[in-house]
Amino acid sequence: MIDRERTENLYKEDLRKKIKKLKEKKNAVIIVHNYQRDEIQEIADYLGDSLELARAAVDTTADIIVFCGVHFMAESASILNPSKMVLLPVKEAGCPLADMITVQKLRQKKQEFPDAAVVCYVNSSAEVKAESDVSCTSSNAIEVVRSIKNKRIIFVPDKNLGMYVQKEVPEKKIILWEGFCSTHIRLTEEDVITAKNNWPKAEFIAHPECDPLVLKLADHVCSTAGMFRYSKTSNTKEFIIGTESGMLYRLKRENPGKKFYMPTTHLVCANMKLTTLGWVAHSLENLVYEVKVPDDVREKARVTLERMLSITGKNKPKT
Ligand code: 13P
Repeated sequence: MIDRERTENLYKEDLRKKIKKLKEKKNAVIIVHNYQRDEIQEIADYLGDSLELARAAVDTTADIIVFCGVHFMAESASILNPSKMVLLPVKEAGCPLADMITVQKLRQKKQEFPDAAVVCYVNSSAEVKAESDVSCTSSNAIEVVRSIKNKRIIFVPDKNLGMYVQKEVPEKKIILWEGFCSTHIRLTEEDVITAKNNWPKAEFIAHPECDPLVLKLADHVCSTAGMFRYSKTSNTKEFIIGTESGMLYRLKRENPGKKFYMPTTHLVCANMKLTTLGWVAHSLENLVYEVKVPDDVREKARVTLERMLSITGKNKPKT
């Protein structure tokens, strides 16, 4: 591990050149989530939130998609575009939240509430998506839930996002799942109060995966892509960022006259940070690690994801 990091520091430029060459030779595209390391964001062909990246995966004409994110994201890309080879550079890059639900447990819940529709957050496995009616991301969860005819909705697996949606869509009855993001949950009410005291002119922008007590203190709640849009258009010059720390790189780069602060040093997603330039080069060179979903699961999960895309439409969400 230490050797690998040292090698990367010494040969970053070489690695970037190597990646560029391999990418051209193999007709590959590099899709990167906003939480990735700075060095990975720098080599992105597409950089964005879960929804933007799902759309990029659908639209690409490349033969190979190198997905720099976590497993469920690469899996969604493969479901939406099965003719492409989708590679996850580090096979261990998972999502603890996605692992907080199984198909078996979801089936039990469906039996308990047979009249309810199932909305699954995109942070879930292909099997769970296949068992759900429609998917959502943090940027379109409200819109998706509003669009559903059923009064009752089983919302899985993030309870904080579910509670946030319930507040915004009171006409529905949301049945929550006991899942949470192990990174966002580390941000406490006290952290935010201290940060607000330290930077009194700053607005606090939070991701809906945060605890409700944290969200209560937020000036604006939105997805990671929403944070870029909001900070760019707001007249405010300082922001406290309530999500994963990888966001700071692009927020600072795109807003040179503005200041961005993290309310705690604890907002680091270890899984997102596993991907390095070395692993991307390795992935392209050896065409590893391919993410594929068995046909029967893929077909059902594709319907769930495509329903979400059709509800949100081609327009960029406002939040
Ligand atoms: P976004 O869709 O806002 O990028 O969030 C993705 C995610 O996994 C948050 O933990």
